Amino acid sequence: MTPVTADRIVEAMNWRYATKIFDKSKKLSEEDRVALLATMRLSPSSYGLQPWKFLVVNDPDTRRTLGSFVPANKSKIEDCSMLVVLARRTSTTVEHVARHAKMLQDARGVSAETLQPFKDMVTQGVAGRSAEAQDIWNSRQVYVALGSAIAAAAMLKIDACPMEGVDRERFDETLGLVDTDFTTTVAIAFGYRDQNDPYASYPRTRRPAAEVLEEL
Ligand SMILES: Cc1cc2nc3c(=O)[nH]c(=O)nc-3n(C[C@H](O)[C@H](O)[C@H](O)COP(=O)(O)O)c2cc1C
Repeated sequence: MTPVTADRIVEAMNWRYATKIFDKSKKLSEEDRVALLATMRLSPSSYGLQPWKFLVVNDPDTRRTLGSFVPANKSKIEDCSMLVVLARRTSTTVEHVARHAKMLQDARGVSAETLQPFKDMVTQGVAGRSAEAQDIWNSRQVYVALGSAIAAAAMLKIDACPMEGVDRERFDETLGLVDTDFTTTVAIAFGYRDQNDPYASYPRTRRPAAEVLEEL
């Protein structure tokens, strides 16, 4: 793999911004869609448990319904080229751990015994968390995938807006997540900035490096 240069990464991070107005006439290429979805699916997660589901909402009517629940994000939801709702698993069970261990076993071609210590450790970690702690833990994993997607989009020169402004219950109802193991956590709109988006020209506002970076 050819590494991306350091200056290109900083350039991409400076280029990106949370896009407020998308040009609805511009669409992502299939290749880029696939790359962004792969970035989320390939994201790391605690113990590798992947407690998530990524819902790509293509249907315009469904988008309009979702948009009607959150006026502040309505136009992004409707006009972006690709809308992904990131859902988290609401709980992680011993069965999920067992399935994950089996996946590792098959992928690595090792015996169940080899993976038993890992399986025991993860099972203990899962069992030792309250339902609320598990839910928060799973939510954090989803945010790792979100962050990866934001960075990947910038490097592809694709605009994006992460959106916590979602209505969890109504999104769950609309997306068929009620009575499943998953619930809406956050969403991301991908596409191309409209030339009239004033946010595109706002200066980057970040605390000085000296304030947020510390070398010990
Ligand atoms: C987790 C998360 C949730 C966000 N939710 C929204 C949102 O619902 N609507 C929106 O317009 N921007 C949202 N933003 C964008 C932030 O407001 C924006 O990233 C921040 O102001 C910094 O600006 P910049 O990304 O343009 O540098 C969100 C950002 C993050 C990381």
